[in-house]
Amino acid sequence: MAAVETINLTKTFGNFTAVDKINLSIEQGMIYGFLGPNGSGKSTTIRMLCGILAPTAGNGTIMGLDILKDGELIKSKIGYMSQRFSLYDELTVHENLDFYAGMYDLNKNEKRLRIDEMLEMSGLKERRHEIAANLSGGWKQRLALGCSILHKPPILFLDEPTGGVDPKSRRLFWDIIYQLALAGTTIMVTTHFMDEAEHCDKIGFIFEGRLIADNTPESLKKLIPGKLLELQVGDPMAFLEKFNSHSDNILDVYPYGTSIHVLVKDGYDFALNNISYQIIEPSLEDVFVYYVKSNRKGVMS
Ligand SMILES: Nc1ncnc2c1ncn2[C@@H]1O[C@H](COP(=O)(O)OP(=O)(O)OP(=O)(O)O)[C@@H](O)[C@H]1O
Ligand SMILES: [Mg+2]
Repeated sequence: MAAVETINLTKTFGNFTAVDKINLSIEQGMIYGFLGPNGSGKSTTIRMLCGILAPTAGNGTIMGLDILKDGELIKSKIGYMSQRFSLYDELTVHENLDFYAGMYDLNKNEKRLRIDEMLEMSGLKERRHEIAANLSGGWKQRLALGCSILHKPPILFLDEPTGGVDPKSRRLFWDIIYQLALAGTTIMVTTHFMDEAEHCDKIGFIFEGRLIADNTPESLKKLIPGKLLELQVGDPMAFLEKFNSHSDNILDVYPYGTSIHVLVKDGYDFALNNISYQIIEPSLEDVFVYYVKSNRKGVMS
């Protein structure tokens, strides 16, 4: 049984379609990265799966339970950390955990045990009597995660958990995510960070409400045709303006950080005067660029 499954899951707001017939399946114990630009429908999808928002059409299941009918049962199976998670600023770390523990069906012993475990996991044991308002972003996020998994949910939805925190905190947060996944938790996580996506077992790209790719990072990379070159040029933007990509052998050209990426057909011998390049493996960012452009051109259905 899949942990999460959707069948043509759709949400419209007026005549705007935010989520458009999404079909996805997440196996138990997997870390599923849900990627897409701002406004592409990530949060809306997750909110439907968590029973916060009713779908307009289609359906979905969580551990075989129907999201349209079994909302209450589903709540005990899932943990949800929303994009704008809410902690009580004026309460201490411990009081926040205690408050959230009260929302789940835990007896007194379980409650104490789980709160201790969450303090340990988040590294907040020493700071448990500090008010939440005094914590920096990374600590707040770990506390919010602790609050959302007090009931040991088998499935966890994390909506941009690492937005706006420093790299060290992001790493710490991901260490915790791996630990949870190793212990069998299924995790669906949205992120803007492609380096984080590389560490997911499977990735779904959502664009304008549609799932345009869904596979392992390795398979997604293999589906890019041709070979990818990285060019070191002084001024990438100026180079792009001058670059003439009319050749049929050049499939795409775009800036990538401080360099330029050129996707060329296999067998094409790329040469430009005075410009050095190397053939590289595509990153997930390259993959995303490729899928979005293919989708726009209508190459993919
Ligand atoms: N309650 C609502 N009423 C009307 N439109 C909405 C509502 N909620 C979301 N939308 C719209 O649906 C689209 C998808 O929003 P959603 O929040 O799911 O995107 P997202 O992928 O999570 O974006 P971000 O990366 O910025 O968090 C957006 O255009 C948004 O403005
Ligand atoms: Mg969102």
